[in-house]
Amino acid sequence: MARRKKIYEGKAKILYEGPEPGTLVQYFKDDATAFNAEKKDVIDGKGVLNNRLSEFFMSGLNAIGVPTHFIRRINMREQLIRSVEIIPLEVVVRNVAAGSMSKRLGIAEGTALPRPIVEFYLKDDDLGDPLVAEEHIIAFGWASQQDLDDMVALALRVNDFMSGVMMAVGIKLVDFKIEIGRIWEGDFQRLIVADEISPDSCRLWDVESGQKLDKDVFRRDLGNLVDAYTEVARRLGVLPTNVTHASKPTLIN
Ligand code: TMP
Repeated sequence: MARRKKIYEGKAKILYEGPEPGTLVQYFKDDATAFNAEKKDVIDGKGVLNNRLSEFFMSGLNAIGVPTHFIRRINMREQLIRSVEIIPLEVVVRNVAAGSMSKRLGIAEGTALPRPIVEFYLKDDDLGDPLVAEEHIIAFGWASQQDLDDMVALALRVNDFMSGVMMAVGIKLVDFKIEIGRIWEGDFQRLIVADEISPDSCRLWDVESGQKLDKDVFRRDLGNLVDAYTEVARRLGVLPTNVTHASKPTLIN
């Protein structure tokens, strides 16, 4: 039997050649990493949840006219996506101070920001994905001024959509990271949301209790990651059927 062609393997996903030109198959692994892969683990069921959740967010974005790479889900762990040329920048949007921003600027975690702040990080593991200014991006040619303007607009639309969807189920969208890719349509280039949108790439806090429902559970050893992601999926009504073996069966009296 012919083996399908692996195009790229990252920390949490694998990309395979797709069935048609311009498409890829994105496979979600159970691997979790943090702090530039210094901390790693395999977490049973994480890939299945992220495949479903990324499908949910990306198809919602497609439906409101925010273009993404998502075409359709294939199975529990795989989705069909458009092949893009990834811009080598991580685009982070923050609504509330947390994580590296709190550390860098000494702003207490949980401080509401006066407006959403968009930041760019250079995708370079050897350098630990450093924060970069728009000046660096233009000077070094990682993206053009037009790309930057489009990326900020795209990121803010994703923020509005995601904030609303999460708030409707009692979850605060603290911050998130997206990756953006270029596609060519004839002579025209368009930027679309790529990679994934999942609790691996967002900070999600329960509005009532402040409980963390995202990858900080793994980064900071706060409990069971699959339970946290399952709670997000359950509230959004996208709990897959027979997901994981991670939670124990409950006795019904
Ligand atoms: P940070 O506070 O560590 O800079 O992270 C900001 C947001 O970006 C947070 O929601 C987690 C997400 N993120 C990723 O998805 N991948 C990464 O490599 C990093 C550093 C952050």
